[in-house]
Amino acid sequence: MATEKEIVVSGIRPTGYLHLGNYFGAIRNYIRMQEDFNCYFFVADWHSLTTHPDPKDLPGNVMRVLAENIASGLDPEKVTLYVQSDIPEISELYLLMNMLAYVGELEKVPTFKDKVRLQPENVNAGLLTYPVLMSVDILIQRAVKVPVGKDQGQHLEMARNFAQRFNHRYGDLFPEPVAFNYGDNLVRVQSLDGKGKMSKSENEMATLYLSDEDDKIRQKLKKAKTDSGSGVPGEPMPESVQNLIELMKLVSTPDTVQFFEDAYNNGSIRYGDMKTQLGEDMVKFIAPIREKAKDLQQDTAYLREIMKAGAEKARANAAQTLHQAKKLIGINYY
Ligand code: TYM
Repeated sequence: MATEKEIVVSGIRPTGYLHLGNYFGAIRNYIRMQEDFNCYFFVADWHSLTTHPDPKDLPGNVMRVLAENIASGLDPEKVTLYVQSDIPEISELYLLMNMLAYVGELEKVPTFKDKVRLQPENVNAGLLTYPVLMSVDILIQRAVKVPVGKDQGQHLEMARNFAQRFNHRYGDLFPEPVAFNYGDNLVRVQSLDGKGKMSKSENEMATLYLSDEDDKIRQKLKKAKTDSGSGVPGEPMPESVQNLIELMKLVSTPDTVQFFEDAYNNGSIRYGDMKTQLGEDMVKFIAPIREKAKDLQQDTAYLREIMKAGAEKARANAAQTLHQAKKLIGINYY
């Protein structure tokens, strides 16, 4: 008997240009998972509304996220690729799940606290219930694995809590999903200025985007921070150098990484050379994705077709879960 493939869900907000963090935290896993799992990948446009994007930008951003995912290697024939707002079942289950989410626990979520600090003028209720909506994205497809970067680990813990709470109160429905990464740990790609993680909206020069032109990539890496360190063999590597080595591990050959690690350890490292090499390897990695994404973005008819086909499949699966959830809750009158 053929065993059913495990279900996988993950989403990306259309809040700006995709960057290396998105690629290595999430998309790289998507590409491998599409072979072995039943994958649902989506553009989280409702989630992006918590930060009030300009309505003029939203359609283009949604299309670009789709194009960049496909350009990175996602095959729309193998995975279900859709836009969150095309699945109204999500909003209904979100309403139901909000009844099981406590304001106290939501106020304690670190990403909520960060947003309160970053945008004190816009602490909307959508921000508070963000983890509920995210949990529903996952639970409604009955996913068991969720490929995400390290920054989303806490949200996955909440998704498990909500699943348990629902199952306990109303009866077994949801599997408990786990954050997933090939390799041991969830990934966090640091920004080039050494100040926190790479992110869509923060310091542009410290972020490498999948849409960056070759010269821009070289220029950004040239400006990347490198503390010189003590230069004494055996001394621990400063974080900024470690950071560049980590980037090298993502895009350069193992020999290249080894060469610069050895050079650091024996005190002969030349940071200029290291950054030039990393720049060239990064260009080789990003350029084909950028060019393919550019072409795909021109073909809006094709992208719309994919969105539509994906929505149909994602809705059908979501509708089944919603139906069962309502029955278990007692919304079952006809
Ligand atoms: P978002 O749009 O911020 O990021 C999309 C994916 O990229 C990962 N990521 C990173 N990984 C490593 N290093 C970084 N510097 C880095 N920056 C971003 C994120 O971890 C994520 O996997 N809440 C989610 C969107 C979402 C979602 C979901 C994800 C909504 N519903 C359901 C999974 C399942 C978010 O804001 O991702």
